[in-house]
Amino acid sequence: MRIAVTGVAGFVGSHLAERLVSLGHEVVGIDRFTDYYARAIKERNLARLRDEARFSLVEADIATCELAPILEGAEVVFHQAAQPGVRASWGQSFGGYLHDNVLATQRLLEALKSRKDPIRRLVYASSSSVYGNTEERELPTRESSPTKPYSPYGVTKLAGEHLCELYRMNLGVPTTSLRYFTVYGPRQRPDMAFHRFITAARRGEPIPLYGDGEQTRDFTFIADAVDANLAAMEAAEGGVFNIGGGSRVTVNEVLATLGEVVGPLRIDRRERQLGDVHHTWADATRARTLLGYAPKVSLREGLRAEAAWLAEVS
Ligand code: NAD
Ligand code: UGA
Repeated sequence: MRIAVTGVAGFVGSHLAERLVSLGHEVVGIDRFTDYYARAIKERNLARLRDEARFSLVEADIATCELAPILEGAEVVFHQAAQPGVRASWGQSFGGYLHDNVLATQRLLEALKSRKDPIRRLVYASSSSVYGNTEERELPTRESSPTKPYSPYGVTKLAGEHLCELYRMNLGVPTTSLRYFTVYGPRQRPDMAFHRFITAARRGEPIPLYGDGEQTRDFTFIADAVDANLAAMEAAEGGVFNIGGGSRVTVNEVLATLGEVVGPLRIDRRERQLGDVHHTWADATRARTLLGYAPKVSLREGLRAEAAWLAEVS
């Protein structure tokens, strides 16, 4: 199949595109190389793909470019492009979040709505941040749980998801939204916790810990998130799915495991950050039942893989 992957130079998009190419698909990747983190890192993410005859790259902004020629012949679109980052989404940066997360998604849906050959599936990278600062008694969250984002980023990811649902229900675009829960592993973005923790540990620098470390996340290994995308592409059922890692842990527990993987850590305690939710925990029943989704990689294995990657590239 010919498949389009937006945000292909990023963490999730590059892994997904590699897997699709290895399965024999022809992939057209789209990315505008935002400056949220260094272009050199994104080029490194693309290194293996660049050698593949079945891969082509279009450097373009989905929110402004002419999409029809890029998407021509694509049977499936994986929409991974976005401006990510919960804590960075306050203040002046919000215009960028609107552009990359809301406007870009709406333009993609418009382009797919009016296509002569209808696509088989559009998979949208949604986020656990749509749930907001859930109370312990509301956990684990289901797809039907209330959505009340706690950061401007979460607001834009929920808006993108609403757009996908609108175009699915009213215009027949076959969308699936995967609500990823904090994804980690090789190529994780440099602003994210594990990347920062491992880098600091390797340099012998103190680890920046926001808050008391008792916040929890349903951390999801990258290969499991990629599996979920492939299953979403094959499944007859669309709509919204939680994609969690299957083990909800506190950040303090992560640090204890990391200490065993990379050696002793020094902690630099900092204030809890605006927009950071206390807890995430996915009820993944819907994904298990309809997509056959079952996360396979344990936190310890996943941390080892991310640490090994950082040792290789830094
Ligand atoms: P990333 O920043 O590594 O990758 C996103 C890529 O999209 C970047 O390379 C960027 O240049 C590109 N991009 C942004 N706006 C674009 C536009 N208008 N046109 C073309 N390209 C554009 O981020 P990631 O961590 O790989 O996240 C991938 C997706 O998953 C995002 O939609 C994010 O919101 C979502 N998500 C990620 C996580 C996580 O833990 N990483 C969790 C939940 C949801
Ligand atoms: C992550 C992604 O960055 C978002 O793009 C995504 O949408 C979100 O997951 C999601 O699941 O929806 P976050 O959970 O903040 O957001 O991921 P990390 O940056 O890995 O942070 C995890 C925890 O570690 C947070 O509680 C954070 O406060 C903490 N942290 C992070 C630190 O203590 N120190 C740091 O240096 C970085």
